[in-house]
This record gives sequence, structure tokens and C-alpha cells, in this order.
Amino acid sequence: MIPYRAIDPGASCAIAAERFYEFMKLRRNVRMFSDRPVSFETIEWIVRAAGSAPSGANKQPWRFVVVGDPAVKKQIREAAEAEEREFYRRRATPEWLRDLAPLGTDEHKEFLEVAPWLIVMFRFVKDDPDEAGEQGQVYYPVESAGIAAGFLLAAVHHAGLVALTHTPSPMGFLSKVLNRPAHERPFLLIPVGYPADECVVPDIHRKPLEKILVRV
Ligand SMILES: Cc1cc2nc3c(=O)[nH]c(=O)nc-3n(C[C@H](O)[C@H](O)[C@H](O)COP(=O)(O)O)c2cc1C
Repeated sequence: MIPYRAIDPGASCAIAAERFYEFMKLRRNVRMFSDRPVSFETIEWIVRAAGSAPSGANKQPWRFVVVGDPAVKKQIREAAEAEEREFYRRRATPEWLRDLAPLGTDEHKEFLEVAPWLIVMFRFVKDDPDEAGEQGQVYYPVESAGIAAGFLLAAVHHAGLVALTHTPSPMGFLSKVLNRPAHERPFLLIPVGYPADECVVPDIHRKPLEKILVRV
């Protein structure tokens, strides 16, 4: 055990919490990216922040595959658009399509080639092999990866960049294109970059606090 180092929020905790809310509520998912470059160093810091997330038994059951190669981005776009075409034409239920309508999304995913980086998040079903090739367990990998994704999105926002949490399902093509081992399952496809000059986002709203908070 080592001593815990508490942080000083520089204000009352209520003020600090309110400021963080005011900052986080400006985050949006963006589907119109600029091709303006972002340094790899920036992406490394963002992935470090994601990797600092808590995880079941500290197993850190995640991998962040960072794609900047235009040829690989093209392959990912083509495979994602093929899945999305199926989704919008056949797989999606009428209710799902109704729920998506306000977002204005369709099967075209140009941003997968325009954004300078694609961060492809995988979550584990087993731990990485040790030197003897043995693979241990991982615990709550989906919950853990979800929390790490939240850290990642917050880090992107904090850097003044934008991202999209994209799920062109089924996402098995990401394992193939990126040549990932069997114990890694695709989790999220996250383009990261600057917003396009004319970027717009859907005019959607959050539930009020009374609808999401229950005090007992
Ligand atoms: C798990 C998850 C999967 C999502 N999948 C997609 C997707 O495949 N395509 C897309 O355009 N947006 C996707 N989104 C983005 C949501 O539509 C978006 O977060 C929501 O509409 C709220 O908008 P905001 O993030 O801009 O506030 C996804 C979000 C989450 C959390």
C-alpha cells in the first residue's frame, strides 16, 4: 500500500463539479471532420488517459489500435459502409430507424477517411498471454472498456478535438483488417480530429436531472 494523494480542486467541490459539468456538456459526437493533422503525441496522451481508467481486478482488458495509414482507413471505411448499408436497408427495425432519424445518419461514412486518426478500441475476453503462453481471466471487461471509452472521449474533448463513438455492427471486420488476436473483440470505432469548418450537430437534448437522479 502507498499513501493516496488527494487532489486540490482549487475551489469548493460543488463549484469544481459544476465547472466540470459545464465543460463536459459541450462535448458532442461529430460526423463532419476536418483533415487537419493531429500529432501522434496528442493521441498517445489521449490513450494514456483512457488507460488510466479503473477496471475489474485492474486487468485493463483493452487495446487501442490507432490507425493513421490512409490505405487502412480506406479498408475500414469500405467494410464499415458495407455493414451500415445492410443495417439501414435490412437489419434495423422500423423503431430503430425512427429513433435514429433526428441524428440524420445514413450508410455513408466519409469521416472514416477524412479524420486524421481512427482509434479502434478492442476489449478482451481473456488476458494477454504470459511468457508461457497462458491466458488468465479478465473481469467485467465490457464495463471496464466502457469506462475507459468515457475517459478517452473526455480526453479528446479536453484536447479541443472531436470524436465519434461509432459502432458499424457487426464489427468483426475490424479484427480482420487490423489482424487482431482472438482474445480481442472490437468494441468501438472512434475517429478523432478537428471538426470541419461547416460542422453541424443534431439539435438534441439531455433528460433533466429529475429524470435521471433518484435520491433515497
Ligand atoms: C455505444 C454508442 C454507440 C454509438 N454508435 C453510433 C454509430 O454507430 N453511429 C453514429 O453516428 N453515432 C453513434 N453513436 C453516437 C450517439 O448517436 C450520440 O452519442 C447521441 O446521439 C448523443 O449525441 P452527442 O454525443 O452528440 O451528445 C453512438 C454512441 C454510443 C454511446
